[in-house]
Amino acid sequence: MTRSERGSTPVKQHSVAVFPGSFDPITNGHVDIVARGLTVFEEVVVAILVNSEKRPLFSVEERVGIVRDVYKDNPRVRVDTFSGLLVEYATRAGASAILRGLRAISDFEFEFQLALMNRRLSPLIETVFIMSAESYSYVSSRLVKEVFQLGGSVKDLVPPIVERRLREKQGTPAGAPPAAPSVRRRVR
Ligand code: PNS
Repeated sequence: MTRSERGSTPVKQHSVAVFPGSFDPITNGHVDIVARGLTVFEEVVVAILVNSEKRPLFSVEERVGIVRDVYKDNPRVRVDTFSGLLVEYATRAGASAILRGLRAISDFEFEFQLALMNRRLSPLIETVFIMSAESYSYVSSRLVKEVFQLGGSVKDLVPPIVERRLREKQGTPAGAPPAAPSVRRRVR
């Protein structure tokens, strides 16, 4: 809440948080954080980092398409890409906060550094941490890709569209078990 210039009437601002990440691919852990974020903020912007240094499995365009599909029925979730400094993007996006999920203590050190660096860069943007559901505390994009590549099931760990896209990448038809390790293409 802020005070209007004319008096002391509180003016409710549209609260926006940016939820940044690689989302290669989005997992149900991410979906859980967005859902929890929407209980605090009116709008959450899923901001996909365009990072030329990493070799992602899904292109930025593919990741945008997947996340848009996941949130196609939710007008309170915006999907966008960004490059450069996160705080500069957050400012451009009209966000007052950066939303990050915490799965375990092991996440904390990196997240602490990120939050303090972002605060130094832009003191007006607050980092808000939300604890993920216990059931997703071990889920990461990297492990999802690894498990899928090695023939394990990722059902219930990712939205159905992600499972479909993983199968398409691998060339495995829907309903069939994942391809044998010897014929699978390398997934990163
Ligand atoms: O999904 P990830 O890899 O955990 O997301 C990391 C991300 C995108 C939040 C982080 O790499 C980032 O904010 N990059 C943007 C560059 C930046 O602003 N760096 C300075 C802050 S330390």
